[in-house]
Amino acid sequence: MKKILVTGGAGYIGTHTCIELIEAGYEVVVVDNLCNASKEGLKRVEEIVNVEIPFYRVDVRDKTGLIEVFKQHKFDAVIHFAGLKAVGESVEKPIEYYDTNVGGSFILAEVMRDFNCKTFVFSSSATVYGNPKTVPIKEDSPLSVTNPYGRSKLMIEEFLQDVFVADETWHIALLRYFNPIGAHKSGLIGEDPNGTPNNLIPYISQVAIGKLDKLSIFGGDYNTPDGTGVRDYIHVMDLAKGHVRALQALENKPQVLIVNLGTGNGYSVLDMVKAFEKASEKTVAYKITKRRAGDIAACYADPTYAIEILDWKAERELDKMCQDTWRWQSANPNGYPRHK
Ligand code: NAD
Ligand code: WQD
Repeated sequence: MKKILVTGGAGYIGTHTCIELIEAGYEVVVVDNLCNASKEGLKRVEEIVNVEIPFYRVDVRDKTGLIEVFKQHKFDAVIHFAGLKAVGESVEKPIEYYDTNVGGSFILAEVMRDFNCKTFVFSSSATVYGNPKTVPIKEDSPLSVTNPYGRSKLMIEEFLQDVFVADETWHIALLRYFNPIGAHKSGLIGEDPNGTPNNLIPYISQVAIGKLDKLSIFGGDYNTPDGTGVRDYIHVMDLAKGHVRALQALENKPQVLIVNLGTGNGYSVLDMVKAFEKASEKTVAYKITKRRAGDIAACYADPTYAIEILDWKAERELDKMCQDTWRWQSANPNGYPRHK
């Protein structure tokens, strides 16, 4: 059985990916420093899959700590989710973002090389396309970044490409996620942001549950069908499956695989409000306010390369994404118990 180290495996995408990996027959070990997660998420994953997951509370910047984990397990591959992900916060705290995201990836790659584990699946982001000139976005579209978070992702992509140039025995996947939403169908795990959410769907679901009064829609004057921002929302379980397919595709040959993980469909903020109201049977109060700095009008993937190269396509529709988010939110109005 192949053994996979999942860094950041206690987080939102990590927990869902652990389920897909175990269901696909992989053995999973998790490293997470729990700076944005609780042990409870992983406990619930264990409940869902009925498998114990070895867990190490280790920071990916802690080389000695990582070495200890690599001494205890022989990994076939690493899926690297661990990192900081809030765009606004990255502008305030660039040192922390570069240190964790870029520094953490350097140290991880070094330890992997030293233990001869050379399959690296990296969580990149559609943010590396900046403000795209045309949509849908293909993988060879121009890259540009406008904030430290995005720049950290692009730097890691470039770093990993350099690693491959120097040693062509690596198997590397740079997976560019669009906007992950939704939750496992059990309602046991889901996205659990700290404090007031920055992202749209966590915000909408907290309005629907009554924790927040009203959604502010950031801009109603974009050049989009209804004037509000358009994004490619993808169900987190589809995204998780994309990681399993990436591992399988990497097995065939050493390479750097760069692939969009999106659905190819663009939905506006107002579309999302309507879909969420339908799923939750609640009213989502909103007001249209000014644009958020750094936002773009429209961003959605051309998913054809993923279909071709990974034999992977997102399957879950928008209604399902909203229903699954709502199941999680309504069963866990305050997220996971906060005993970290
Ligand atoms: P998340 O915050 O839920 O998960 C990240 C996990 O990493 C958390 O459990 C956190 O505790 C852990 N972590 C952070 N710093 C660490 C460190 N130094 N050492 C060890 N663990 C650490 O976020 P997520 O939404 O699951 O995102 C996972 C990855 O996907 C991130 O790299 C993120 O940048 C990337 N990504 C996310 C999105 C999104 O919208 N959610 C989109 C594109 C890319
Ligand atoms: C979606 C749409 C907002 C909140 C961010 C990161 C990106 C990636 C995913 C990690 C936009 C609008 C939002 C609100 C609103 N993360 N909105 N009111 O900005 O597409 O992407 O998360 O890699 O890098 O930038 O996602 O969910 O914040 O916004 O009107 O309270 O919803 O303007 O049009 P975004 P989002």
